[in-house]
Amino acid sequence: MSDQLIIFDTTLRDGEQSPGASMTRDEKLRIARQLERLKVDVIEAGFAASSNGDFEAVQAIANAVKDSTVCSLSRANDRDIARAAEALKGAERARIHTFIATSALHMEKKLRMTPEQVLEQAKQSVRFARNLCGDIEFSPEDGYRSDVDFLCRVLEAVIAEGATTINVPDTVGYAVPELYGNFIRTLRERVPNSDKAIWSVHCHNDLGMAVANSLAGVKIGGARQIECTINGLGERAGNCSLEEVVMAVKTRRDYFGLSLGIDTQHIVAASRMVSQTTGFVVQPNKAVVGANAFAHASGIHQDGVLKARDTYEIMRAEDVGWSANKIVLGKLSGRNAFKQRLQDLGVQLDSEAEVNTAFTRFKELADRKSEIFDEDILALVSDESVTSEREQYGFVSLAQHSETGEQPRARIVFTVDGREVKGESVGNGPVDASLKAIESHVKSGAEMVLYSVNAISGSTESQGEVTVRLQNSGRVVNGVGADPDIVVASAKAYLSALNKLHSKADRVAAQG
Ligand code: KIV
Ligand code: ZN
Repeated sequence: MSDQLIIFDTTLRDGEQSPGASMTRDEKLRIARQLERLKVDVIEAGFAASSNGDFEAVQAIANAVKDSTVCSLSRANDRDIARAAEALKGAERARIHTFIATSALHMEKKLRMTPEQVLEQAKQSVRFARNLCGDIEFSPEDGYRSDVDFLCRVLEAVIAEGATTINVPDTVGYAVPELYGNFIRTLRERVPNSDKAIWSVHCHNDLGMAVANSLAGVKIGGARQIECTINGLGERAGNCSLEEVVMAVKTRRDYFGLSLGIDTQHIVAASRMVSQTTGFVVQPNKAVVGANAFAHASGIHQDGVLKARDTYEIMRAEDVGWSANKIVLGKLSGRNAFKQRLQDLGVQLDSEAEVNTAFTRFKELADRKSEIFDEDILALVSDESVTSEREQYGFVSLAQHSETGEQPRARIVFTVDGREVKGESVGNGPVDASLKAIESHVKSGAEMVLYSVNAISGSTESQGEVTVRLQNSGRVVNGVGADPDIVVASAKAYLSALNKLHSKADRVAAQG
């Protein structure tokens, strides 16, 4: 059996299914480029048939990414599969990932199909897909809770039809490591043609065991592909976290004995990019990518690390890309230094016009803030107005007044489809007044379900990064804005959320 472990990243598909994590085409493209830099083997770029927006994102990623296989999810029907194949046309290496539920519960209650109908549909879909693409992954959704005899029949049949990867999802995060590992081993032993496919694990984190289950699927079950997401992003409690699973396999090579293609030095940049794009903040004590992951606070630990770092460190911070709070640029830095730093951070802007806009923003920021950190630059380029995307709403300027004993008031100027409009309001505080000033004009009717402020680089001189989550007619979106002035950051985040609310309205649920 091969000792190469395939890393299949599904941040842009399963990760994006997390409420509020929906990303624009350009955001997805930027993250895909970072995943390619990270050297992930397969990028699941989206679910092409779910919406025109997702189709375009998969297509753009297929055209841009050269070193990783680009994959699209599709339900097990000809229309979805044809749409996935169409979106993937430009890819150097393409994969179609088709799925249908196989557990009794899902077949009966959700699909309202008999097991025999599901078996036939799975076979027919893989046959159809195989005529369009040489690399086909099949997933029995809710596979872990499926009847093992039935699952073996389905998997044998789809391998016979040409599926090249068999992925066994623990869709609801119900598994425990030993049992999941044994389940994969049983399937591989009982499916007669199991050696014709690569076996893959796909674990959700509802009981906090997604990484452990995935590793057991590899160690006990003999799987050679792990499906995971940056920061463990994903529906409900998320998916198996890429950074944790990769560093476990790398750090404990003595135990797993597997090789990985991942360039781990790009992990932290990928984590920050995903966090800043989606507004899903990484907890400080998160393994590998949390701000405290390599911080030693107690005197005994600090003393030990200074004498010999391996007393308390099992990984080197720099191996995963930490260059903590390095002052990278300042007021006097030129355009070339700025461009170089963007490149080092894995940011590729599509045109010189975008570089110019980003550089102008950088200079404006450097006038207000003496030290510019990597985090500042990433926040700056994740601002939608830097990229070429034409957004409906754009921030122009804000004036607000608050004084003890007086009701705060705000006046905002912003653009709607390029035309400047003004809004004015009072509120409970300056942020509330500013967002009400936007609403006085937009009247979106959206409900705010989350508002959070985070200091990007620690001190009060830092930029504030604001996340706003809005909900309207069943859709949940996150908007992110950054600025040294947190009231301005809040207004930018609110406008960014409104932009997302008004796009991709036709998306269908992947698990539908
Ligand atoms: O969790 C799941 O079952 C999935 C499948 C669509 C692969 O994400
Ligand atoms: Zn999933």
